[in-house]
Amino acid sequence: MMSPFTVAIDGPAAAGKGTISKAVAAHFDLAHLDTGLLYRAVGARMLQGEDPIAAAESLMAADLENPDLRTAAVAQSASKVAVIPEVRAALLDFQRAFARRSGGAVLDGRDIGTVICPQAEVKLFVTASPVVRAQRRFAELEERGFDTDFDTVLADVKSRDDRDMTRADAPLRPAEDAVTIDTSELSIGEAVAQAIAAVTARCD
Ligand code: CDP
Repeated sequence: MMSPFTVAIDGPAAAGKGTISKAVAAHFDLAHLDTGLLYRAVGARMLQGEDPIAAAESLMAADLENPDLRTAAVAQSASKVAVIPEVRAALLDFQRAFARRSGGAVLDGRDIGTVICPQAEVKLFVTASPVVRAQRRFAELEERGFDTDFDTVLADVKSRDDRDMTRADAPLRPAEDAVTIDTSELSIGEAVAQAIAAVTARCD
Protein backbone atom coordinates (compact mmCIF):
# COMPACT_ATOMS: atom_id res chain seq x y z
CA MET A 1 0.00 0.00 0.00
CA MET A 2 1.30 3.48 -0.90
CA SER A 3 2.17 5.77 1.97
CA PRO A 4 1.06 8.00 3.52
CA PHE A 5 -2.37 6.45 3.30
CA THR A 6 -5.09 7.60 5.70
CA VAL A 7 -8.42 6.02 6.50
CA ALA A 8 -10.66 8.50 8.37
CA ILE A 9 -13.51 6.93 10.31
CA ASP A 10 -16.02 9.29 11.91
CA GLY A 11 -19.41 8.87 13.51
CA PRO A 12 -21.47 9.27 16.68
CA ALA A 13 -20.92 7.53 20.03
CA ALA A 14 -21.01 3.72 20.09
CA ALA A 15 -21.76 3.30 16.37
CA GLY A 16 -19.04 0.68 16.02
CA LYS A 17 -16.14 2.91 14.95
CA GLY A 18 -13.70 1.36 17.38
CA THR A 19 -14.32 -2.24 16.32
CA ILE A 20 -14.33 -1.34 12.63
CA SER A 21 -11.19 0.80 12.92
CA LYS A 22 -9.21 -1.93 14.65
CA ALA A 23 -10.31 -4.52 12.09
CA VAL A 24 -9.51 -2.25 9.12
CA ALA A 25 -6.10 -1.39 10.60
CA ALA A 26 -5.29 -5.07 11.13
CA HIS A 27 -6.51 -6.07 7.67
CA PHE A 28 -4.45 -3.43 5.80
CA ASP A 29 -1.55 -3.43 8.30
CA LEU A 30 -2.02 0.24 9.26
CA ALA A 31 -1.41 2.01 12.58
CA HIS A 32 -4.57 2.95 14.49
CA LEU A 33 -5.39 5.99 16.65
CA ASP A 34 -8.62 6.23 18.65
CA THR A 35 -8.78 10.04 18.84
CA GLY A 36 -11.67 9.91 21.33
CA LEU A 37 -9.11 8.73 23.89
CA LEU A 38 -7.31 12.08 23.63
CA TYR A 39 -10.51 13.97 24.50
CA ARG A 40 -11.34 11.43 27.21
CA ALA A 41 -7.88 11.93 28.75
CA VAL A 42 -8.39 15.71 28.80
CA GLY A 43 -11.91 15.20 30.21
CA ALA A 44 -10.54 12.95 32.96
CA ARG A 45 -7.99 15.58 33.97
CA MET A 46 -10.72 18.25 34.05
CA LEU A 47 -12.72 16.00 36.42
CA GLN A 48 -9.64 16.01 38.66
CA GLY A 49 -9.83 19.80 38.80
CA GLU A 50 -7.41 20.79 36.07
CA ASP A 51 -7.98 23.50 33.49
CA PRO A 52 -8.86 21.63 30.25
CA ILE A 53 -6.74 23.83 27.98
CA ALA A 54 -3.66 23.36 30.18
CA ALA A 55 -4.41 19.63 30.31
CA ALA A 56 -4.66 19.37 26.51
CA GLU A 57 -1.44 21.33 26.07
CA SER A 58 0.47 19.02 28.42
CA LEU A 59 -1.13 15.69 27.49
CA MET A 60 1.25 12.72 27.83
CA ALA A 61 1.17 9.09 26.75
CA ALA A 62 0.63 8.07 30.39
CA ASP A 63 -2.70 9.98 30.39
CA LEU A 64 -4.02 7.48 27.85
CA GLU A 65 -3.36 4.59 30.28
CA ASN A 66 -5.86 5.92 32.85
CA PRO A 67 -8.23 2.96 33.58
CA ASP A 68 -11.19 5.36 34.07
CA LEU A 69 -11.20 6.65 30.50
CA ARG A 70 -14.09 4.38 29.48
CA THR A 71 -16.50 5.51 32.21
CA ALA A 72 -19.70 7.40 31.35
CA ALA A 73 -18.60 10.34 33.51
CA VAL A 74 -15.40 10.72 31.52
CA ALA A 75 -17.32 10.38 28.22
CA GLN A 76 -19.55 13.31 29.20
CA SER A 77 -16.57 15.33 30.35
CA ALA A 78 -14.77 14.54 27.07
CA SER A 79 -17.63 15.95 25.01
CA LYS A 80 -17.60 19.10 27.17
CA VAL A 81 -13.88 19.78 26.73
CA ALA A 82 -14.26 18.92 23.01
CA VAL A 83 -16.28 22.11 22.38
CA ILE A 84 -13.32 24.29 23.47
CA PRO A 85 -11.40 25.45 20.35
CA GLU A 86 -8.08 25.73 22.27
CA VAL A 87 -8.40 22.11 23.41
CA ARG A 88 -9.02 20.95 19.83
CA ALA A 89 -6.12 23.10 18.58
CA ALA A 90 -3.73 21.60 21.14
CA LEU A 91 -4.53 18.08 19.91
CA LEU A 92 -4.35 18.89 16.20
CA ASP A 93 -0.65 18.47 15.35
CA PHE A 94 -0.33 15.09 17.04
CA GLN A 95 -3.35 13.75 15.13
CA ARG A 96 -2.21 15.21 11.77
CA ALA A 97 1.28 13.77 12.15
CA PHE A 98 -0.20 10.38 13.06
CA ALA A 99 -2.54 10.52 10.05
CA ARG A 100 0.26 11.10 7.57
CA ARG A 101 2.85 8.76 9.08
CA SER A 102 4.64 6.56 6.61
CA GLY A 103 3.09 3.15 6.50
CA GLY A 104 -0.41 4.62 6.70
CA ALA A 105 -2.95 5.02 9.47
CA VAL A 106 -6.55 4.62 10.51
CA LEU A 107 -7.93 7.36 12.77
CA ASP A 108 -11.39 7.28 14.28
CA GLY A 109 -13.25 10.18 15.83
CA ARG A 110 -15.69 12.94 14.94
CA ASP A 111 -13.76 15.33 12.68
CA ILE A 112 -11.05 13.22 11.04
CA GLY A 113 -12.42 13.43 7.49
CA THR A 114 -13.58 17.04 7.83
CA VAL A 115 -10.83 18.81 9.83
CA ILE A 116 -7.89 16.62 10.86
CA CYS A 117 -7.25 14.97 7.52
CA PRO A 118 -9.53 16.28 4.75
CA GLN A 119 -7.08 14.76 2.24
CA ALA A 120 -7.59 11.23 3.66
CA GLU A 121 -7.62 8.67 0.87
CA VAL A 122 -10.68 6.94 2.37
CA LYS A 123 -13.41 8.44 4.57
CA LEU A 124 -16.06 6.37 6.29
CA PHE A 125 -18.99 7.68 8.32
CA VAL A 126 -20.15 4.91 10.65
CA THR A 127 -23.55 5.43 12.23
CA ALA A 128 -26.53 3.59 13.80
CA SER A 129 -29.80 4.56 15.45
CA PRO A 130 -29.54 6.06 18.96
CA VAL A 131 -31.39 3.09 20.53
CA VAL A 132 -29.10 0.51 18.91
CA ARG A 133 -26.03 2.49 19.94
CA ALA A 134 -27.28 2.80 23.51
CA GLN A 135 -27.97 -0.97 23.61
CA ARG A 136 -24.41 -1.68 22.52
CA ARG A 137 -22.87 0.80 24.96
CA PHE A 138 -25.07 -0.57 27.79
CA ALA A 139 -23.89 -4.14 27.09
CA GLU A 140 -20.28 -2.96 26.93
CA LEU A 141 -20.50 -1.07 30.23
CA GLU A 142 -22.22 -4.03 31.94
CA GLU A 143 -19.52 -6.37 30.69
CA ARG A 144 -16.88 -4.06 32.14
CA GLY A 145 -18.68 -4.24 35.49
CA PHE A 146 -20.10 -0.70 35.56
CA ASP A 147 -23.38 -0.30 37.46
CA THR A 148 -25.77 1.50 35.08
CA ASP A 149 -29.19 1.25 33.42
CA PHE A 150 -30.35 1.49 29.81
CA ASP A 151 -32.26 4.78 30.10
CA THR A 152 -29.25 6.52 31.60
CA VAL A 153 -27.02 5.22 28.80
CA LEU A 154 -29.52 6.31 26.12
CA ALA A 155 -29.75 9.80 27.64
CA ASP A 156 -25.95 9.97 27.75
CA VAL A 157 -25.62 8.97 24.10
CA LYS A 158 -28.25 11.53 23.01
CA SER A 159 -26.80 14.41 25.01
CA ARG A 160 -23.31 13.72 23.64
CA ASP A 161 -24.66 13.46 20.06
CA ASP A 162 -26.35 16.79 20.54
CA ARG A 163 -23.24 18.48 21.93
CA ASP A 164 -20.98 16.92 19.27
CA MET A 165 -23.26 17.90 16.35
CA THR A 166 -24.10 21.46 17.41
CA ARG A 167 -20.69 22.76 18.52
CA ALA A 168 -19.25 25.60 16.41
CA ASP A 169 -15.74 24.12 16.08
CA ALA A 170 -15.41 20.85 14.13
CA PRO A 171 -19.00 19.60 14.60
CA LEU A 172 -19.75 15.94 13.94
CA ARG A 173 -20.92 15.53 10.33
CA PRO A 174 -20.01 13.31 7.39
CA ALA A 175 -17.41 14.69 4.97
CA GLU A 176 -18.89 15.27 1.51
CA ASP A 177 -16.92 12.38 0.05
CA ALA A 178 -17.47 9.96 2.96
CA VAL A 179 -18.99 6.51 2.48
CA THR A 180 -21.73 6.04 5.10
CA ILE A 181 -22.14 2.66 6.80
CA ASP A 182 -25.27 2.33 8.94
CA THR A 183 -24.56 -0.55 11.33
CA SER A 184 -28.04 -0.61 12.96
CA GLU A 185 -28.97 -3.89 11.29
CA LEU A 186 -25.49 -5.28 10.67
CA SER A 187 -23.50 -7.85 12.61
CA ILE A 188 -19.92 -6.92 13.52
CA GLY A 189 -18.66 -9.18 10.72
CA GLU A 190 -20.95 -7.56 8.14
CA ALA A 191 -20.00 -4.03 9.22
CA VAL A 192 -16.28 -4.85 9.08
CA ALA A 193 -16.70 -6.49 5.65
CA GLN A 194 -18.44 -3.35 4.30
CA ALA A 195 -15.68 -1.12 5.67
CA ILE A 196 -12.93 -3.29 4.17
CA ALA A 197 -14.78 -3.34 0.84
CA ALA A 198 -15.07 0.46 0.88
CA VAL A 199 -11.32 0.86 1.54
CA THR A 200 -10.46 -1.69 -1.16
CA ALA A 201 -12.72 0.11 -3.66
CA ARG A 202 -10.92 3.42 -3.04
CA CYS A 203 -7.52 1.79 -3.49
CA ASP A 204 -8.28 0.49 -6.98
O1 CDP B 1 -16.39 5.73 22.23
P1 CDP B 1 -17.39 6.80 21.95
O2 CDP B 1 -17.82 6.81 20.51
O3 CDP B 1 -18.53 6.81 22.91
O4 CDP B 1 -16.68 8.20 22.23
P2 CDP B 1 -15.20 8.63 21.89
O5 CDP B 1 -14.91 8.39 20.45
O6 CDP B 1 -14.27 8.06 22.89
O7 CDP B 1 -15.26 10.24 22.08
C1 CDP B 1 -15.58 10.84 23.32
C2 CDP B 1 -15.94 12.29 23.05
O8 CDP B 1 -14.77 12.97 22.56
C3 CDP B 1 -16.99 12.52 21.97
O9 CDP B 1 -18.31 12.53 22.47
C4 CDP B 1 -16.59 13.87 21.37
O10 CDP B 1 -17.17 14.93 22.09
C5 CDP B 1 -15.10 13.94 21.59
N1 CDP B 1 -14.34 13.71 20.34
C6 CDP B 1 -14.19 14.76 19.45
O11 CDP B 1 -14.74 15.83 19.67
N2 CDP B 1 -13.43 14.61 18.33
C7 CDP B 1 -12.83 13.45 18.06
N3 CDP B 1 -12.09 13.34 16.95
C8 CDP B 1 -13.00 12.34 18.92
C9 CDP B 1 -13.77 12.50 20.05
